Amino acid sequence: DSLFGTPVSIYRYQGYIFPGQLVMSGVFKELPDFQFRQDDVLVASYPKAGTTWVQEIVYMLMHGCKMTNENSEVLETRFPYLEYPYPGIKSLAAKKEKRFIKTHLPINLLPPSFESSTAKMIYIARNPRDTAISYFYFMQLLTQCNYQGTLSSFIDLFLSDKTMYSPYFGHVLGYWEARHNPNILFVTYEELQQNPEKIIRKMAEFLGMSLSDAEVTYVAENTSFVRMSSNPSVNYEHWKDFGFAFKDKGKFLRKGKVGDWQRHLNKSQVAAFEEWENEHLKNSDLKFSYIC
Ligand code: A3P
Repeated sequence: DSLFGTPVSIYRYQGYIFPGQLVMSGVFKELPDFQFRQDDVLVASYPKAGTTWVQEIVYMLMHGCKMTNENSEVLETRFPYLEYPYPGIKSLAAKKEKRFIKTHLPINLLPPSFESSTAKMIYIARNPRDTAISYFYFMQLLTQCNYQGTLSSFIDLFLSDKTMYSPYFGHVLGYWEARHNPNILFVTYEELQQNPEKIIRKMAEFLGMSLSDAEVTYVAENTSFVRMSSNPSVNYEHWKDFGFAFKDKGKFLRKGKVGDWQRHLNKSQVAAFEEWENEHLKNSDLKFSYIC
């Protein structure tokens, strides 16, 4: 598409849009046989919902509520991305130690062994307006996307379910409907922002842990936007050295706020979002916060 400076291939598979490299890698043939283990911990999301934030919280919770040497390894290694070709599903399957797994797969494409395992999953959802703004900047930052279009064109793509891992509402509502599954915890970016300590405690309880106040505070402080922005193991700045991200197009940890859409969207764009949101949420009890 001419909106992208680098040719971007995307595919529709089972009703969702995926990066071409995923489909080409053959991962969708391998996923159905992927075996979850009883003690796997997953973080799932539609892109730009706060995945990295929850991954780092979960990792710290499960490593003694401390920053350890292990935390200094980059997050992609500590917490691999299930469906991405690198390091790949085979290396994840071969991993001996306890697994922490990130995925952007919609619930209908999760390997079926999830249902029959006791693996735990935290799904993070973020309001669609802030998700779209974050996604717009991310598409400019990644060299393999090199988005060149305007915000307005990007909003058109987003609202017409053409961005990767869309449809957004199919993704979010699929997990929302599964939120009573005892192995799934559904949280929102907005509630995590509003009261990190409360939600961190909730995540810990879900993972079977009972934390002291000092531990909760420690995890909240060390996973704050400011701390994570200056932590090279989670801020993805190394992508710039690898050529995955442009050096001059901002940062992965960009703003970290609820309501940044207000600085970006004009009246008619807000109206388009409202109409789209109302249509998709009319039969759902899911309610988003749009401002803090
Ligand atoms: P913004 O672009 O709005 O800043 P993901 O990890 O799913 O790709 O999501 C990235 C978004 O989460 C970015 O949003 C990023 O800044 C935000 N984020 C990451 N860590 C955060 C933290 N500790 N606190 C608040 N927001 C965070």
